[in-house]
Amino acid sequence: MNILITGGAGFIGSHVVRRFVNQYPDYTIVNFDLLTYAGNLENIKDIEGAPNYHFVKGDIQSEEDVTSALTKYDINGIIHLAAESHVDRSITDPLVFVKTNVLGTSNLLFCAKKYWGNDFEGKKFYHVSTDEVYGSLEMGGGFFTETTAYDPRSPYSASKASSDHMVMAFFHTYHFPVVMSNCSNNYGPNHFPEKLIPLMIHNIIQKKPLPVYGKGENVRDWLHVKDHARAIDTIFHKGKLGENYNVGGHNEWKNIDLVYLLCNIMDEKLGRKAGESAELITYVTDRAGHDLRYAIDASKIEKDLGWLPEYTFESGLAETVDWYLQNQEWLDHVTSGAYRAYYQQQYAM
Ligand code: NAD
Ligand code: DAU
Repeated sequence: MNILITGGAGFIGSHVVRRFVNQYPDYTIVNFDLLTYAGNLENIKDIEGAPNYHFVKGDIQSEEDVTSALTKYDINGIIHLAAESHVDRSITDPLVFVKTNVLGTSNLLFCAKKYWGNDFEGKKFYHVSTDEVYGSLEMGGGFFTETTAYDPRSPYSASKASSDHMVMAFFHTYHFPVVMSNCSNNYGPNHFPEKLIPLMIHNIIQKKPLPVYGKGENVRDWLHVKDHARAIDTIFHKGKLGENYNVGGHNEWKNIDLVYLLCNIMDEKLGRKAGESAELITYVTDRAGHDLRYAIDASKIEKDLGWLPEYTFESGLAETVDWYLQNQEWLDHVTSGAYRAYYQQQYAM
């Protein structure tokens, strides 16, 4: 296949690109990314010389950019991850989320449909979405399933919900060959340090305050990014068209418990005295409209497609901390903005 992966320079996208480039040497993999603040080609520098890998700097909102990539590489599969992904940014700047997530996804669908004509044989459009479209759960009260009604509550989740609806509308209206997944919170290497886990790791290293929103009682369901990339591979190849699959790790953590766990792991790894990093914990004003709890029922993908998470949280988190400690140059480049110089030099932009 010739697959266009959008957002392949971001956190999850880079793991998906690497997996597909390495697992499927016969496929052509085109990484299509605008390189916003969240796009970092250092994330995938290990595979940029692979013969089946190509990078295109382009905007999913541009008909010209998308159509030219579809045509140049005769694309018959799309895995769509490009998005604005950070909830806090969506609260301060909602419009960019509408533009990228709603209009960008709609443009991608439109261009693919135009390029593929009415012949969808051997074609596939996979949209990667989030569990946040389902809203917020009560403490201890049930799980999100694929039939849970959409109830997005932040500009980010509303924009993702809107894009999901457009994807499913293309399936019902045009029999467009779509498949979709809704995943819980990811963690792992290359996670941008604006999100909870990498921000805390960074601040613990630097001995900076650890900002916990509200009372730290909100719950998230954490999955290792490589388990998510493997789920995306499974769904892309075996998922039923017109269906969505929930992906999650059966791994719920209160934020405050997770931050204490990270402090303990890192005190040990950094040779600090027990409890030292926890003294950095600082309770700050809560996120506006902060969803209380996310929790995924992943039984459909487990039963129908045979996918199960492989990482335990214990091993995944320890490995993630080790990755950040061994890749402080990556972290320095991201926090200083120097990662942009890397791709400007590599790709003469
Ligand atoms: P990210 O913010 O790390 O990366 C997003 C990527 O998209 C970046 O490389 C960026 O440059 C690119 N991009 C942004 N706007 C673009 C545009 N207009 N055209 C082309 N490229 C553009 O995001 P992530 O955390 O890796 O998330 C990837 C996808 O997975 C998103 O769709 C997100 O909603 C979804 N998701 C994320 C999580 C999570 O925990 N991070 C969980 C479930 C679902
Ligand atoms: O559930 C999937 C979603 O997970 C994805 O769709 C999003 O793209 C991804 O960003 C993530 O959203 P969250 O808002 O859950 O992730 P974040 O890392 O921003 O926050 C996790 C929890 O930690 C949340 O309850 C807010 C809290 N938090 C976050 C930050 C950045 C803090 O307490 N302090 C912080 O500094």
